Amino acid sequence: MKGVILSGGHGTRLRPLTHTGPKQLIPIANKPVIDYAIEDLRDAGITEIGIILGTNMPEKIKEALGDGSRFGVKITYIMQGEPKGLAHAAKTAKDFVGDDSFVMYLGDNILKSGIEEFVSGFDESDFTSRLLLQEVEDPRQFGVAELNDEGKIIHLVEKPEHPKSNLALVGIYLFKSEIFNAIDKIKPSWRDELEITDAIQKLIDDGFDVDSFVVEGWWKDTGKPEDVLDANQLILETIKTDIKGIVEDDVKIKGRVVIGENSIIRSGSVIKGPAIIGKNCEIKGYVGPYTSIGDNTKLIESEIDSSIIIGNSLICSNRRITESLLGLNSKITSCTKSYPKGRSFVIGENSIVKL
Ligand code: TTP
Repeated sequence: MKGVILSGGHGTRLRPLTHTGPKQLIPIANKPVIDYAIEDLRDAGITEIGIILGTNMPEKIKEALGDGSRFGVKITYIMQGEPKGLAHAAKTAKDFVGDDSFVMYLGDNILKSGIEEFVSGFDESDFTSRLLLQEVEDPRQFGVAELNDEGKIIHLVEKPEHPKSNLALVGIYLFKSEIFNAIDKIKPSWRDELEITDAIQKLIDDGFDVDSFVVEGWWKDTGKPEDVLDANQLILETIKTDIKGIVEDDVKIKGRVVIGENSIIRSGSVIKGPAIIGKNCEIKGYVGPYTSIGDNTKLIESEIDSSIIIGNSLICSNRRITESLLGLNSKITSCTKSYPKGRSFVIGENSIVKL
């Protein structure tokens, strides 16, 4: 079995962060979201992984992941180019997959339970596909599966107005190579994309069996800023205390906290976990729960919680920063003693500032 991770797409909903790189490299608890997909595949015994690349700075993904040896896997890069849909992305992996079965994993998705149980027994089964599903409150914004009594999928609808079940498609799929014939038979949808739900429906209509697997732990699609912060919170729930940096006297550390090498927590600071602070950081202030601070960041006389600072940043703010997502090299400073005292911004396209 092989793995195919989709790392193309425009990532428009995550602008301005995606103006400077693909969304699959946005860190969740200081680790690119795509790393979690690679680790899930590896932990399920899948070590041949194809990474589908799009047009948004694909070289950054290659640079970050290399040949995969750091994860104990072998990575092959496959160029999709323009994002013409999930089924189109799958099709570009046809030569890489050959006659094997494969897991298709959306590179911005993150799953608590891993995929070991999901993939188990698929190769030996008569199923042509198996879909990971999760019960959701409002299925209308998802691809929704209708199952028969045996758990076989009989119908799939993309974002239905009147959903027949509350089982949404999570972005992780198992296929045998028959899926490529189904993709060849479908036409682009109203949004001009080759939809994977249409290809799977084609499999069902042509008489192939499609299995379901309902996942119980959490699953997160990190397509929007609030989802990235939610995923950060969920992953931070799982960290264990690990303090490598220097903690000066008179610092309060509560809960589970990770502090990286060469970081220094100045006297008087309070760090309330779960929180993670990367390498070479200097912290003087308050770091509250569900915060991830990337390498080379200075937080001076400031308070922050429920946020992600990607790294190389300077924060010196007299107002608490909360539920924020700060790109690389951000600066937020309000500690200046000089005049004028007004607020001054250099903000890229699609930035959001809530004052
Ligand atoms: P989406 O989040 O649906 O699409 P997007 O990345 O273009 O984001 P936005 O809607 O904000 O512009 O894509 C889901 C995942 O699949 C994501 O990891 C990107 C990837 N993908 C491809 O690799 N190729 C494609 O053609 C598409 C549509 C998505």
